[in-house]
Amino acid sequence: MAWKGRDIISIRDFSRKDVESVIARSRRMERRPKRSLEGRTLASLFFEPSTRTKLSFETAMHSLGGSAVGFASPKGTSVEKGETLSDTIRVAEGYSDCIVMRHPQEGAARLAAEVSLKPVINAGDGANQHPSQTFLDVYFMHKSFRGIDGLTVGLIGDLKYGRTTHSLALALSHFDVKLRLISPQNLRMPQNIISDVKKRMDVEETESLSLDGLDVVYMTRIQQERFPDVEEYEKVKGVYVLTKERASSIDGIIMHPLPRVDEIAKEVDALEQAKYFEQAACGVPVRMALLEMVIKG
Ligand code: NCD
Repeated sequence: MAWKGRDIISIRDFSRKDVESVIARSRRMERRPKRSLEGRTLASLFFEPSTRTKLSFETAMHSLGGSAVGFASPKGTSVEKGETLSDTIRVAEGYSDCIVMRHPQEGAARLAAEVSLKPVINAGDGANQHPSQTFLDVYFMHKSFRGIDGLTVGLIGDLKYGRTTHSLALALSHFDVKLRLISPQNLRMPQNIISDVKKRMDVEETESLSLDGLDVVYMTRIQQERFPDVEEYEKVKGVYVLTKERASSIDGIIMHPLPRVDEIAKEVDALEQAKYFEQAACGVPVRMALLEMVIKG
C-alpha cells in the first residue's frame, strides 16, 4: 500500500512488510537525516497530556526542516466554546500537511481521518491504540536484537487500558514472537486483541510476575485516569514493582513507554538491563520516518 497520504490510526491496518519499511526508514533517519520536509507544517493537536509523543513529533518535524503548530491541551482553544472535533480538524487541515492527534476518546482518531484529506496520525485515542509508540518499540527491539523473530516478549501491568500494549501485541503477532501477558485478572488484555494475536503467535497469560526467559520485559504504568472508579485503581496500584534486586536477575532488556510511576524503582535506571530512556530517544528518528512517509511517500 502507498504510504503517501496514508493515515496511521490502528496497527491493525499494517502488515509485517509495512512494519519492516518503517524500521528501515527509521534506521536511515537515525544515520543520515535529510531536510526533506522543508516548508511543510505539522499540526500537533493534543487533547490529553503528553511529554514524549508531542515533543518527539515536533522535534522530528523540525529536524526534517519543517515546522509545527498546535496545542498541548484543549484549554484555551475553541473546544471550550463548544467547537466539534470535526470542525477543529477541518481547520487544522487547512493550516498543515499532516495532523498528529491525541484524544481521550476511542475512535476519535478514526473520525479525524475520515474528516481530513491530509494524513492523520493517531498519537493515542483513549485506551484503544498508540501506533507510533509501537513503531518505535519494534524499532528499538530490532535495533537491540538485530531482528524481532525468535524473541520472547513479556507485556506487564495494565493490559486493559494500556493502549501501547494493544498496538504492540498486534504488531508483534506478524513476527515469530512468543508473548507472555502479565496482568492482574481485572486488567487483562481485551479478548478481541488476544483472540486476534493468538491466530498468529503463542500467547501465555499469567498473573504472576515471572520474568524468566524473557528477552524483553515491557513494563507499563497502571492507567489511573482510565479507571471509572478510584477504589478499583487502589486495589491494583503498585501490583507489580520491578525492584533493583528483581531487575538484576533479568537476562533480557527492560523497556517502558514512560511515564513510569512506581512500577520501576529508580535504582533500576543504573542497571545495564534498563533501556527505557534509550528507547524514548528513538521516538525522534521513528517519527521522522513516519512523517516523511505519509507526507512525501
Ligand atoms: C503512553 C501513552 O500515552 O499511552 N505514553 C507514551 O506515549 N509514551 C503510556 C502511558 O501514558 O502510560
